[in-house]
This record gives sequence, C-alpha cells and structure tokens, in this order.
Amino acid sequence: MEKKNIDWGSIGFGYIPTDYRYVANFKDGKWDEGQLTTDPNVTLNECACVFQYAQTVFEGMKAYTTEDGHIVTFRPDLNAERLANSARRLEMPVFPEDRFVEAVVQTIKANEAYVPPYGSGATLYVRPYMFGSNPVIGVKPADEYQFRILTTPVGPYFKGGAKPITIRVTDFDRAAPHGTGHIKAGLNYAMSLHAIMDAHRQGYDENMYLDSATRTKVEETGGANFIFVTKDNTVVTPKSNSILPSITRRSLIYVAEHYLGLKVEEREVYLDEVKDFAECGLCGTAAVISPVGKIVDHDKEICFPSGMEEMGPTTKKLYETLTGIQMGRIEAPEGWIKVIE
Ligand SMILES: Cc1ncc(COP(=O)(O)O)c(C=O)c1O
Repeated sequence: MEKKNIDWGSIGFGYIPTDYRYVANFKDGKWDEGQLTTDPNVTLNECACVFQYAQTVFEGMKAYTTEDGHIVTFRPDLNAERLANSARRLEMPVFPEDRFVEAVVQTIKANEAYVPPYGSGATLYVRPYMFGSNPVIGVKPADEYQFRILTTPVGPYFKGGAKPITIRVTDFDRAAPHGTGHIKAGLNYAMSLHAIMDAHRQGYDENMYLDSATRTKVEETGGANFIFVTKDNTVVTPKSNSILPSITRRSLIYVAEHYLGLKVEEREVYLDEVKDFAECGLCGTAAVISPVGKIVDHDKEICFPSGMEEMGPTTKKLYETLTGIQMGRIEAPEGWIKVIE
C-alpha cells in the first residue's frame, strides 16, 4: 500500500484529515449497522443535545506500524470499556464493546495510507466519539446519538519531543464538578481549556491539578496521568477515583513490575512529598511518557535531579519497554496487541 506523501517526521499534534471515517446512528432504541464515509462534516439540528448540554464522550488511541511492517493497535478493548463507562455516566446508550473494536479496525484499515511508517516518530491517532444528536430543550438526555471514529496522523504531543517539560500547580480544577473526572467527557475538557491557556500564557507546558476537596493530593494534568520514581527506584502513581484511568498508566504499572522487576505503588500522593521524588513523567496515549523536569508550585520550585535535558533513567526504561511492545520490538503480554493487518 502506497503511503501518502506526508513529511512524517515534522508533523505535530494537529488535525490532518484522512480519507475515511466511521459513522453509526442510534435511533428508536437501537444502533444501525454503521459504515465508513468520506464526508468529514457533521450536520445537526441547532438544538441537538450535544450543543446545548454538551452530551458528548470520546476516546483516544493510536495505530502503530511495527518493526516487521504490520499495523497494530494497543489494547482497544480497554478504550471500548472506558467509552462505555463514559456513556453510562452521561445517560447515553453504550456502543457495544465488540462492535467498537471492529469499527476501530475497519477505520484504521481504510486509512492505511495515513498510518505513519515504522521509525518515523509519528503514529495514527484514532478518535472514537459519540454525541446526543436530536433536539432537546428541557434538561434531559437525547433519544438519538451518533457514534463516529476519525483518524489523523500525529507527531509528539509536546513541542520539543522528548525534552523535559515544566508544569505548574494550578488552583483550577481539571474536570467539571459532580465527580466526573474519571470519564472522558467533552465537558471535562471544555472546563480545562481556560486553565491550559492560562498556564501557556505564563510559560508552562501543563497544569498539575490537585484534589478539589483538600487541595493537598496530586491528581493529573489536562491530558495525562503522573508517574513518579522514588530515589530507591520505586514507581509511584496517584490513586484517585476522580482522575482518568489511563490505559498507558495501567500498562506501565504492568511493565514496571513484570518486565523491569520494579516495585510499584498506586497510592495517594501528597504535593508535599513530590520534592523527594527522583523522576517525574506524564503518561498517556498522546503524551506516551513525557518527562517533567520542573514543577512550579506558586512561589516554590521543584527541580527533579534528572534535569531539563534528558529523561530520567527509569522513565527512559519504562518508555523504551512500552514503545518496544507497541512497535513489536518486545514481546507483548497476551491480548495487548490487536493486529489490523
Ligand atoms: C485527562 C487525561 N488523563 C489521562 C489520560 C491518559 O489516558 P490514556 O493512557 O488512556 O490515553 C488522558 C488521555 O488521553 C487524559 O485526557
């Protein structure tokens, strides 16, 4: 298959339309068969529930070209499960999890020419999403929904690639209120836009959000979970039911324990103890593992010993092992890799 003429090495994290997207509609209590379409535009009634009450949920995953030339995706069953949980929390119908995986495979296959080659540093980002589509004026869920999957080739999430970033502790909350932080709903991201822009205006790459009840515990950033490494090489990651249960983080915990023989603690992490860690990184599908060199907490600065030039040594091992599994250089645990073709 001939690849598109794209300079894969220079693309950032933006939207480049591809040839096909998947669409399925929910009406009269059931999903239709679903199909691929070439039309990137969605036309909806002005009063569609998604516009008025932000009834929309989404997922984010990637397709990779492996060392031996296959196209694969990583643990899509977990994205299916998380989308179903997000949908339930917003009173939306669940798109069946097996159909989700099939639709993802079908959409990636149709856009094979846009899956960046092995070693290019780019991947195909896959964005399944779903929204309430019929007019609703009283505050209630829609009766009709559309499930779609779009794909777009992407490069690194943070400018500068693997260089450590600087984040700040913010007084804003990441998610919309009422305990919705553990789902991937558009409203949570809309609520984070001001905090992100404010951080950028002040020269920071991202925000560290704290728990809203006590403002003493580390939660996550706008688009990734935290991973810390202690001075005696234990991997520590915050436990909280208001952060997004990152598939990357769950995978890294397994990799740390079973591939690298490291001790892992998933527990509450207090802001006060962050200064004692040796390494810090952000993990997620988009971020992969982005090293954090510095955290600014109002008038205090925490500089990690790994510095602003390179990833810390344990972060690097985690990064190499996870990306090695995703790109087919290292044998994956059973069920982690779904081969597209
Ligand atoms: C708020 C937030 N936290 C964490 C993550 C990482 O989750 P995952 O590893 O499943 O991509 C994301 C996702 O992209 C996110 O938006």
